[in-house]
Amino acid sequence: TKPVQSSVSLLPRFLQELPRPGVVAGNLTLPAAEGWHRFHPWLPLTRTWGYGGVAYGGPVVEAMAGTPQTLRFANGLGAHLLADNISTAVHGARATDANAPRTTVHMHGAVVAASSDGHPEDVFFPGQTKAYNYTHRQEACHLWFHDHSLGLTRLNVYAGLASNLLLRDAYDLGVGNTLGLPSGDCEVPLTLQDKAVDVFSGKYQYMPALLGKNSWFPGIFGDLSLVNGAAFPKMTVDRGVYRLRILNAANSRPYSLAMSNGTKFHVIGNDQGMLNAPVPTASLDMLPGERYDVLVDFSNTPAGSTIVVYNTAIPPNGGFIFGSFAEVMRFDVRATLGRFRTLPTRLRGGAGQRAALPSASSIVPVRQRTVTLAQVLDIACGATAVPLQLRLNNMRFEQEADTMAAGQWELWNVVNTTTESHPFHVHLAEMRILNRQKMNMAAYLLAHPIPPVATHWAPPADGFASGAATAPAAWEAGRKDTVNATAGAVTRILVRLPTAEEAGFDPRATFTNVEGQRLSGYMYHCHLLEHEDCDMMRPLQVV
Ligand code: C2O
Ligand code: CU
Repeated sequence: TKPVQSSVSLLPRFLQELPRPGVVAGNLTLPAAEGWHRFHPWLPLTRTWGYGGVAYGGPVVEAMAGTPQTLRFANGLGAHLLADNISTAVHGARATDANAPRTTVHMHGAVVAASSDGHPEDVFFPGQTKAYNYTHRQEACHLWFHDHSLGLTRLNVYAGLASNLLLRDAYDLGVGNTLGLPSGDCEVPLTLQDKAVDVFSGKYQYMPALLGKNSWFPGIFGDLSLVNGAAFPKMTVDRGVYRLRILNAANSRPYSLAMSNGTKFHVIGNDQGMLNAPVPTASLDMLPGERYDVLVDFSNTPAGSTIVVYNTAIPPNGGFIFGSFAEVMRFDVRATLGRFRTLPTRLRGGAGQRAALPSASSIVPVRQRTVTLAQVLDIACGATAVPLQLRLNNMRFEQEADTMAAGQWELWNVVNTTTESHPFHVHLAEMRILNRQKMNMAAYLLAHPIPPVATHWAPPADGFASGAATAPAAWEAGRKDTVNATAGAVTRILVRLPTAEEAGFDPRATFTNVEGQRLSGYMYHCHLLEHEDCDMMRPLQVV
């Protein structure tokens, strides 16, 4: 596999061993607070944010499916580390965020009541604590939690407020571990991010001053490849099988992972749970927000081998690129035999296993709707660096919420009118990719006013599709909550919200935030955080 992009960062690669985040469980208090963190041995310390006493990022929280859990998040933040980048032209951002940063914590992928979903307006302030109650009534999977403050998410997550929650059950790591999956030190979360820091001061670089202070830009790409907060790490492995829980937690960067010697990723799970059987692939695409549960087999790799994991995805244009990198990390294979030496052949549907996952094409939706992803010119955003916004159905966040009924499958036709991929995420929902189809986008946009007129749901795309519809890759055909909506195409996604009975709470319930506002409902949005902040996010009320 040849990396297709050149490296810009001059820092030497693979100097540091991959950090393994600590694991915590049970009902916990996790403060969000400042720390000092060194991203690379040659860099000075950086002032960072993290959860639970970790300087950057946070611990891995473990929980059992079906066992309720309360996490109390405390806002222990001082002055904002990226105060120069807060833009009050962006919806919801406040001048006070510079000295008293808001936060709210979204458990991405969780089936959770709206009052504990980290609603972007359900924020709390320095000195305050908020309890989040999770029923955990869903399959074992890889959730992650991150800040979701309206108009501030991109900066709070960039500063470090993101970490993982591994939801377990007897099928994978519970008492049964009936699948014999690698566990303990052979199961490793890999949180992928990019970052830019000033090599002399160690300070975060986010948006260069030449693009404007207190401004917004549609994408930021750093030159440091971070895995678990370490730039260009290496991971020493035994000759055996490893379970990697990979998360793309970058603000905007796409990843296409490939290994230098062609070693395959055996994908066993998607965002929300297991596939029916492992799917081997030499290249794995991940947009921000997506998780893949992957086995990698080094048992026949010669001792002493070094395998570089490359990112072959090129950042889309329209962002500010501090630099790029080809190398993500390296596996150094030592002679020791690993504790796990075999790959499972089947993950669901066998004796003592979870029921098989039905194919997406066997699901019959009760209704359809169309969502457009578009970039629109808007001088209301004139105080930002560029007078444009990203929108869903050309609606703004503040406009009346969209509605959806629980307990039924719907078909969402996600029409991406732009020239880049967007990760499409719906809170609370289970999603399955039906197919993707290229569109004659010019004709679609001509038939409907340009930019597509603001409307709750856009006109159907069907008459404008061109070429054959393609099924999702087998490794992304499982239960998802964040889907790659590819450029110039319609991505057809089956979407279902759980009923109150399934979830263990009423998804329609309203609640009051600390500022006395009455709130309810969930979000759907693009998970490129710059897009989400301005203004590619819409409220979704459950009815
Ligand atoms: Cu991970 Cu609403 O997001
Ligand atoms: Cu987007």
